Amino acid sequence: MKRGAERGRFITFEGIDGAGKSTHIDAVAQAVQMRGVETVRTREPGGTPLGEALRELVLSQSMTRETETLLLFAARSEHLAKIIRPALSAGRWVLCDRFTDATYAYQAGGRQMDRERIAELERWVHPDLQPDLTILFDVAPEVAAGRVERRLDLARGADRFESESSGFFSAVRTMYLERAAKNPARFLIVDTGRAPEMVRTQLEQMIRQWNK
Ligand SMILES: Nc1ncnc2c1ncn2[C@@H]1O[C@H](COP(=O)(O)OP(=O)(O)OP(=O)(O)O)[C@@H](O)[C@H]1O
Ligand SMILES: [Mg+2]
Repeated sequence: MKRGAERGRFITFEGIDGAGKSTHIDAVAQAVQMRGVETVRTREPGGTPLGEALRELVLSQSMTRETETLLLFAARSEHLAKIIRPALSAGRWVLCDRFTDATYAYQAGGRQMDRERIAELERWVHPDLQPDLTILFDVAPEVAAGRVERRLDLARGADRFESESSGFFSAVRTMYLERAAKNPARFLIVDTGRAPEMVRTQLEQMIRQWNK
């Protein structure tokens, strides 16, 4: 595919903390590149200098769930304008570690914000754009929590989400699964309770076969 010839595809990675999104994004990028397209790897919150600064605040500062949600959408608006939309217009495939499904899962599922508030912001910030594919990395919260604990080092304590309870992550997971059930054409669910090599093989196969 020639750059600019066709809009790129927007692929998002979702799942609770420790589900394996960051571990597997490179393998998916390689599988996409095998299809002959350029990729852009990015993440939320973040993806731009301002977005990364907002990420730091959201992960470290105490704030209300409303403030948190607004900051997430502020970072998203910037990310869409500066990175995501230009890349898609140029024919690149954007691989994004978390997007708006995460706001529904964490802020509505985990923090019990009214989901209509999130829907309003979604209609404002990206009324015209949804991911073409969302890969939901699904794993039991206890398994994910064990991984996050092992990943932490002495230099960095748990962030505001990593330090949440297993009840919080169960609610986040439930909201993700609910959204996947409502949008079966967009979501692919990958069981990441298995060994990383098995997850990787399934993802590579999935990307080879995905034809959109
Ligand atoms: N299938 C797996 N089996 C065992 N360990 C895994 C598996 N997948 C990832 N891990 C390990 O679990 C930890 C968390 O994985 P990773 O950082 O990819 O999760 P994440 O979904 O990106 O989490 P976060 O949302 O917090 O960024 C890492 O140390 C990673 O090496
Ligand atoms: Mg990660």
